[in-house]
Amino acid sequence: MMACVHRLNLDEFSRQRERHQHNAFGAPGQAISTENPFLNAEFVYDRSSPFFSMKSRLFSGVQPTGNLHIGNYLGALKNFVRLQSSYESIFCIVDLHAITIYQDPAQLSAKNREIAGLFLAAGIDPKLSSIIVQSQVAAHAELAWMLTCVTPIGWLYRMTQFKAKSEAIRENSDSQDSIGDGLLQYPVLMAADILLYQAKVVPVGDDQAQHLELTRDIAQRFNALYGDTFVMPETKLPSVGARIMGLDEPDKKMSKSASGAGHAVALLDEPAVIRKKLMRATTDSNPAVDFDTMGSGVANLLAIYQAFDECDDAAMRAKFSGMRYGDLKKTVAEKTIEHIEPFQARYREVMADPAYLDGILAEGAARVEPAARDTVRLVKERMGLYTEAR
Ligand code: TYM
Repeated sequence: MMACVHRLNLDEFSRQRERHQHNAFGAPGQAISTENPFLNAEFVYDRSSPFFSMKSRLFSGVQPTGNLHIGNYLGALKNFVRLQSSYESIFCIVDLHAITIYQDPAQLSAKNREIAGLFLAAGIDPKLSSIIVQSQVAAHAELAWMLTCVTPIGWLYRMTQFKAKSEAIRENSDSQDSIGDGLLQYPVLMAADILLYQAKVVPVGDDQAQHLELTRDIAQRFNALYGDTFVMPETKLPSVGARIMGLDEPDKKMSKSASGAGHAVALLDEPAVIRKKLMRATTDSNPAVDFDTMGSGVANLLAIYQAFDECDDAAMRAKFSGMRYGDLKKTVAEKTIEHIEPFQARYREVMADPAYLDGILAEGAARVEPAARDTVRLVKERMGLYTEAR
């Protein structure tokens, strides 16, 4: 079922805008609207309106697990930074997702701050965007339960990531008991993250595309059962770098949880380590780059270069055609280091001030809380759950 579309007149629009500002991005402590700004409608902005600049929302999340790598950066973080000023952006450290697999509590707690530091180092500007930790805003879990109740279990069993992760657990243990229910419900929580803020745009890497499809399916099912409630989110993939592959196994996605020492370049790897890992990357039996016959390892190295450099295909061909693999690896390593070194310097600066970091997270949560509360209230009303009279 399609979301109903309203063309707003000016009065409606300005009221809408006012409420909107009060919601996600009013200053903390500002008066809070109890109405949902996106109620029932996908708004068609009138270009002649002086309020045309009202921005749609953008939401994305990163799990505080393992070591963030250049795949996370090129597939997601770089796009967050590029898009943040075009939308009202919320970037979330999804610690509730992390615990779908056992995490050491002390490590998880430190990782939340590490990811916040990496967001800032990458260039997310806390004046433009809200950075939050998922467990700070209780409405994520609350909405997830309500959405769980409209999600057919068959949809969840079909998720490739659930199949892969549960398979891995099964292989490493004698019993199926260790596959937590949270692992199956994982994509419902992800849908809740996005729908909670009525986000229109969700920048992610290619591996999350199926979860985004499911999010739309859940939203459509909810809207069909209870009336139009949720905005349909769109997946936004980067044009290059949406799927960076493992350096040691270029047919597998670069992953935070892979064990091989040469699998991923971590964002906090020393330059010497980055060089070493890239120089050892798997290529193929050709001696030099041939764009027509290259294997997945060479294609992956070229994608890493192009995603960092942002040059076009013609420039790539001109630069790399016929280049010997040793030189290709060196060139990719130097390009990677050129981008990662200043990033690491900013990270160290930010991490030296934990109070600043905690302040950013507290402010982020305070800013988004009203919008989250509004959606939960709306969903409760739609479902007939108890809400206090307005
Ligand atoms: P996570 O933490 O696994 O990954 C964070 C982001 O990095 C992207 N990514 C990659 N991009 C390119 N190449 C790769 N090899 C690569 N590996 C990871 C991911 O696509 C992601 O964008 N389920 C999500 C977190 C999440 C979320 C959300 C995302 C929870 N709620 C709501 C968007 C909206 C995850 O596990 O990402």
